[in-house]
Amino acid sequence: MLSFLRKTYYALPPQYRFVVRRLAYYPIDIWESLTGKRPQMTPPRGMIYTGSGDFVKAGHWWQQFFVEQAGLQPRHRVLDVGSGIGRIARGLTFFLKNTEGGTYDGFDAIKLGVDWCTQNISSKYPHFRFQYVPLENDLYRNDGQNAANFTFPYPDDSFDFVILTSVFTHMLPNEVERYLSEIQRIMTRGGVCVATFFMLDDKTRHILTDKTAFNFPYDYEHYALMDDKVKAANVAFDNLFLEKIISENALVIEKKIDGFWRFGKRENEVQDFQDVLILKKI
Ligand SMILES: C[S@@+](CC[C@H](N)C(=O)[O-])C[C@H]1O[C@@H](n2cnc3c(N)ncnc32)[C@H](O)[C@@H]1O
Repeated sequence: MLSFLRKTYYALPPQYRFVVRRLAYYPIDIWESLTGKRPQMTPPRGMIYTGSGDFVKAGHWWQQFFVEQAGLQPRHRVLDVGSGIGRIARGLTFFLKNTEGGTYDGFDAIKLGVDWCTQNISSKYPHFRFQYVPLENDLYRNDGQNAANFTFPYPDDSFDFVILTSVFTHMLPNEVERYLSEIQRIMTRGGVCVATFFMLDDKTRHILTDKTAFNFPYDYEHYALMDDKVKAANVAFDNLFLEKIISENALVIEKKIDGFWRFGKRENEVQDFQDVLILKKI
């Protein structure tokens, strides 16, 4: 049933998916506006095109994860690739200290999210900056620049900490390779990158075609797709392929935390739905 609903949703053109979401949440959004129930710096639910779940809690959860698992500090210069509509940024506003040199930069392929963040986050926290880059991604838009030859708009060695939550899970192999090379360029030596993936290994390959699971039936060996029409809908990568492109880009894997997409339910507090890799530039 879930897989059927997902397929139907992906069958819609990208702009209609935004409209469907706005309409579905319209009553609750109106109610939250009228009653003042929406927490500050939180978009109406119908605008959160980046996924489901508790927007505020997830932001805090990730902030804690970055600190406890990957050593994020208030003085760090952070780059959030695919910053969406501010879920990660919001959680970091309470942590990154401009007085200590801490900054946040985010860029994204969807203008709606970037504009919302600029109006609602940068206006209160000027050391949080958001940039719109019209990059092609068939889950979110019909046109745009090819991410596989995109150069991040930042100088070399300019960030201590790079974040990609649920971004590489919507990108194709040549794009991920390009982004890893850009991440290693813009990150300072010793810098850390936290990125989420769906990783295919001995434990997950068998669920590729299991219709009851979060499945990836279109298998191209080094990667697999959930939907062959909307390629970026969800993308999984073979773990050996990932390890190869990570080391080719002079990054090392410091830690790997399996996600609970593999098991169906969360097994411990440091687990996200997706697999997490913590990478370091040496
Ligand atoms: C599932 S959302 C996650 C958003 C955010 N990272 C979060 O965790 O809330 C994926 C985001 O990646 C963005 N995106 C897709 N392709 C991209 C690309 N090539 N470069 C940067 N962002 C991209 C989308 O516009 C979308 O905002």
